[in-house]
Amino acid sequence: MNTILVTGGAGYIGSHVVQQLTERGERVVVLDNLTSGFREAVGSAELVVGDVGDQALVARVLSEHRISAVLHFAAHTVVPESVRDPLKYYGNNTCKTRNLLACCVDAGVRRFLFSSTAAVYGMPTSGIADEDTPLQPINPYGMSKLMSETMLRDLGAAGAMQYVILRYFNVAGCDPQGRIGQSTPHATLLLKVACEHAVGKRPSLSIFGTDYDTPDGTGIRDYIHVEDLAAAHLRALDHLRADGESLTLNCGYGHGYSVREVIDAVQRISGRALTVIEQPRRAGDPPMLIARADRLRERLGWTPRHDDLDFIVRTALAWEQKLAADATPA
Ligand code: UD1
Repeated sequence: MNTILVTGGAGYIGSHVVQQLTERGERVVVLDNLTSGFREAVGSAELVVGDVGDQALVARVLSEHRISAVLHFAAHTVVPESVRDPLKYYGNNTCKTRNLLACCVDAGVRRFLFSSTAAVYGMPTSGIADEDTPLQPINPYGMSKLMSETMLRDLGAAGAMQYVILRYFNVAGCDPQGRIGQSTPHATLLLKVACEHAVGKRPSLSIFGTDYDTPDGTGIRDYIHVEDLAAAHLRALDHLRADGESLTLNCGYGHGYSVREVIDAVQRISGRALTVIEQPRRAGDPPMLIARADRLRERLGWTPRHDDLDFIVRTALAWEQKLAADATPA
């Protein structure tokens, strides 16, 4: 009765969680439509190729596998795209989450872990967000996730669901053993883009904004290694299984690095001088976004193992080098 359903388990973050779950002997079924995920990323877990919005399929998977808990990662995540095409985000992230929740309620699945985002906070004035900071998303991506959070909270209040909402800050790095990583095409995330440039996949790298009110003028973010984030999910699952109360938790280290610090680390670790182009600020970027993440430590007993920018960069770069080598004809 303990099989877990992981939606989006073939994607970047989902696959790291699936790997940790299978490593500790959990039975895992992945539901992924493979639009941005990769079949090989799910390892030994069973993969059902399909969509979270497919009610008949989801109902069948829940009942056939006697699913006891759902971890829901499947989503679109590109902020600028959400601004251009909001309905794509409300459809995929919000409406399909409603479908998944309805199927869970019908099937009596009452434990639900939800991937949310720091984007629900928008631009907090101090640059530091705790879980009680006002929720003011400034783009459809953040709003689509906040709407899903709201459905979960309302279901929790109705006594129909026990949940943990995890609000991710800047997730980065890859499996230190190099088995899985971040393969998303057309990446926009700073560290991924910098590593792609370091391995020769891009001719240059842009800094978006050098005139912020920060020590070196560039944006500051709280980068959390994906393995530490994955570990938080396992603890959240244990918490739900122990009938712990529903929780909403920030996932970050509680301190940040500037864009220049990240680029310097990539240069140092790759040994490559990067071509950096200073550009104007990117629309919608806050100067600083750091998690107050004490609640995650206190409530789930989580402690980070990889709170180290160089380690994050080393693992991301190793994965990028592997992708580049695989793409080079022998
Ligand atoms: C990411 C997440 C978002 C989350 C946020 C939390 C995605 C797609 N985005 O967005 O959901 O809410 O973290 O903080 O997962 N930068 C450059 N050059 C580049 C790319 C980025 O200078 O080529 C700068 C940005 O201006 C920003 C910083 O690097 O200051 C980080 O940007 P990025 O990696 O795109 O992540 P976020 O926008 O913070």
